[in-house]
Amino acid sequence: MEDNVTQIKQKLDIVDVINSYVGLKKSGRNYKAVCPFHNEKTPSFMVSQELQIYKCFGCGAAGDMFNFVEAIEGVDFSRALEILAEKAGVKLVKSDAYDTQNALKKKIYEINDMSAKFYQYVLLKQKAGAKALKYLKKERKINEKSIIDFRLGYAPNSWDILTKFLKSKGYKDQDLIQSGVTVKRSSGEGLIDKFRGRIIFPFIGIDGKVLGFTGRTIYDREPKYLNTGETPVFHKSFFLYGLDKSRVSIKKEGAVFVEGQTDVISSHQAGIENIICVSGTALTDNQLEILSRYTNDITYCFDSDFAGIEASYRAIDLAEKRNFNVRISVIPEPYKDLDELINSEPEKAKKILKEPIPVYDFFLATALKRNNKETALGKKAIMEELVPLFSKISNRVLFDHYAKEISSELEISEDTIFSMLKKGYVEKDDEKLEIEEIDQKFPIKDRKIEGYFVSLVLKVSLEKAKESVKKLNTEDFLNENVREIFSTIEKYIEDRKTDINIKSLTNKLEGDLKDLLSELYLWEFEDGESDDDAQKDMESELENVTQRIKKESIKRQLQILSSEIKIAETKKEEEELQKLTKKFEKLSKSLL
Ligand code: UTP
Ligand code: MN
Repeated sequence: MEDNVTQIKQKLDIVDVINSYVGLKKSGRNYKAVCPFHNEKTPSFMVSQELQIYKCFGCGAAGDMFNFVEAIEGVDFSRALEILAEKAGVKLVKSDAYDTQNALKKKIYEINDMSAKFYQYVLLKQKAGAKALKYLKKERKINEKSIIDFRLGYAPNSWDILTKFLKSKGYKDQDLIQSGVTVKRSSGEGLIDKFRGRIIFPFIGIDGKVLGFTGRTIYDREPKYLNTGETPVFHKSFFLYGLDKSRVSIKKEGAVFVEGQTDVISSHQAGIENIICVSGTALTDNQLEILSRYTNDITYCFDSDFAGIEASYRAIDLAEKRNFNVRISVIPEPYKDLDELINSEPEKAKKILKEPIPVYDFFLATALKRNNKETALGKKAIMEELVPLFSKISNRVLFDHYAKEISSELEISEDTIFSMLKKGYVEKDDEKLEIEEIDQKFPIKDRKIEGYFVSLVLKVSLEKAKESVKKLNTEDFLNENVREIFSTIEKYIEDRKTDINIKSLTNKLEGDLKDLLSELYLWEFEDGESDDDAQKDMESELENVTQRIKKESIKRQLQILSSEIKIAETKKEEEELQKLTKKFEKLSKSLL
């Protein structure tokens, strides 16, 4: 199988493969198109020829040419292999390949299962697990039965204890790496455990097999949750956490989607069983397809923060395209998520889940909450939010009902509301347009600034990249992953004479970091302008971003210093106090 895949990849170019399904347009160093996997008007589907991968920034679809063919043809891997083999003129040696692949999968299942047992043993029986166990029981109110049912565990905060254990059982390095529990050290030689100092939530498939893991830090490290990447047995865009336990009750009562693993577990503990969540991804169409085998009814119960609400808009759209009946349960203030609500007021939680509201009531309530309906500008903003959502309603009765309701909430004549909704009409003033245009060009809002920095560094001239990288150091980065990527880039470009070669750079990284770097590289900036302009825009944007990261970092240092100063003051350590104050003054000046 491996040979077939390599052969095919050598003969075919992902750009040609994708181009034969959707028209690609060159965009800077990459190619782009309107995404074939979700509805959109402006292209956010990107293809890289150098990396031979694609990624849609709208819906998250991503992968290599095999993933693409699987998704677009709706076939499994072996069929995609046949299709591409034919295109490439490669003859498949089938039976051997199947055997090897199956043997590998079997081994990975064994490794995963053994790892889950190991983690649980540490959590329940070892001193190293005591802190995690206390955290789970006392702070998270998760009881022993749930720990056993969900096979929770703890990955000790050491480099390679699990890897060594598994090797002593006879597993080879290559198998451990493929399973995802072991990773190569990002710098230097040797293998280490992927999960360290984390509470482990195994990803359990419908058949009860352990497919992968997510681990929550108990040391406040980034990322908060670390997930198994793609492996031969784990495909995150198809996985629904909790479905193994909830599918019977989902058939009866419909499915409730929550945001995280802990929400799923607390719900089960409180006797609510029809609960699932996605883990570490936005909801995908693949997941909804799987769910549609069990039910047509979905209740979304997302966190009440801004990200939660944005996530529900996207999720509602996806589910309505698949003809699910979608309703919403809103987590009441002051609770952040279902987990918190259940832990404080279990009865209220049950009631909210039993009485979800229609999505349109949710849209209206959210718009009213976010804006002040008493002012003229507030009314305008509310209509701007609602028109695109409500103008899609095709049912007359529903349409009339909501038009009237909006009219009475805003105290604006029914005629006006009707005609606005009918036309899907939103007035935009110039200022707003401008902001939107800039956002599209440099869509930074939901992209963390540190990753954004890296994505810019990869695209500007070597000279500019060096200049910006020199201005920062690793301590200026908060995100652990980006920090590692930054330090790799730092080393990589130090003595370099020619432009960054993205392929050789990604090859310096492994696993998730490699994926992250590729993803960062695929962010696009060009906006149909000439390449020269785009290049200049990016360079000035990079300067700007570099400064902002530096500033944030200095602010953090100042915060630490000021608490140190307070301590020195209370302890009356004059000399120390003077030293710190000087440092503080100097550092604050650099902020100006
Ligand atoms: P939240 O940050 O809301 O986490 O992310 P939570 O479930 O409330 O976690 P606790 O209560 O602080 O322990 C929601 C979900 O998003 C995914 C996880 O699946 C998480 O449960 N996530 C979050 C990640 O995959 N990685 C992260 O770094 C953070
Ligand atoms: Mn939570």
